[in-house]
Amino acid sequence: MMLAADIAPAVDIVGALAAAATTRLGAAGIETARLDAEVLLAQACGIDRTTLYASWRRAVPGGCRARFDALLTRRLAREPLQYIVGRQEFWSLDFAVSSAVLIPRPETELLIELVLRVLARTSGLLPDARSLAKGPCSLRLCDVGTGSGCIAVALAHELADATVWAFDLSAAALTVAASNVQRHHVAERVHLVHSDLFAAAGDLCFDAIVSNPPYIRSDALGRLQPELAWEPTHALDGGASGLDVIERLVTQSPPRLRPGGWLIMEIGADQGDAVEQLAHAAGFRAVSIAPDYAGHPRALVARKA
Ligand SMILES: C[S@@+](CC[C@H](N)C(=O)[O-])C[C@H]1O[C@@H](n2cnc3c(N)ncnc32)[C@H](O)[C@@H]1O
Repeated sequence: MMLAADIAPAVDIVGALAAAATTRLGAAGIETARLDAEVLLAQACGIDRTTLYASWRRAVPGGCRARFDALLTRRLAREPLQYIVGRQEFWSLDFAVSSAVLIPRPETELLIELVLRVLARTSGLLPDARSLAKGPCSLRLCDVGTGSGCIAVALAHELADATVWAFDLSAAALTVAASNVQRHHVAERVHLVHSDLFAAAGDLCFDAIVSNPPYIRSDALGRLQPELAWEPTHALDGGASGLDVIERLVTQSPPRLRPGGWLIMEIGADQGDAVEQLAHAAGFRAVSIAPDYAGHPRALVARKA
């Protein structure tokens, strides 16, 4: 008996189609060509990659080819894979993403590790600090510039007694964050607030402020990989020096922290010295710059006296 796979043109066999797409993506300068081709083909067929491999020698099901061509065209235009498939993993959790938000980056997971580390180290102090708070006795954390909500959700996921206030200037980003807060069942403990830094924070004070602010110099934006052009400018652009939002955030944070509270903020690899100076000038003590796994300066860790 002749199977559909035997009579289909070679290019419509799953493996052949993936290989042809890999070649096109590679020729367009996409380093992850093979992975991208497979992810897009699986997406077009409505299956996962394991099932795709199991179907490698079979004919592509009807309708998939047209969907795959449309997805491939988007990727060839250098639209990020994550926007095309609508998701990205962060801290082993699955997040919805759209072009309204920065795609969560693996290096930002360092902020979660640092928060967990400093809170564990100072946990003896936190009950005193907590007792200053009105209302329920819980850790109060703040994520400034929440974007997809990845930091706020990851922290709420890790710290069952924490309440997180997540601020963002972009209403469209907060809509995406809201879907992620719902998806991960932390809506009762993550409050999303439309705010320029702390402008809408009322009289709230926090045990820790966490942020991955925009910190790329405006003149460097056009020189970076083409995919960055698809991400929101307000999520990346740190002004002429790269430090516009960082400087405001460091200066405004001390009054928003309880005594002994922490500011933990992602920075660019060349911003360590400048940010350390800003933190000292703002009155922080125990200021340090934490490296990422590649050894590059990556995060400010500063403690209020
Ligand atoms: C680099 S993205 C970080 C997004 C997310 N936290 C992450 O790590 O993937 C910076 C975010 O800060 C927001 N933002 C920029 N300026 C802001 C401001 N003045 N106040 C509040 N949010 C701001 C942007 O809209 C964007 O969502």
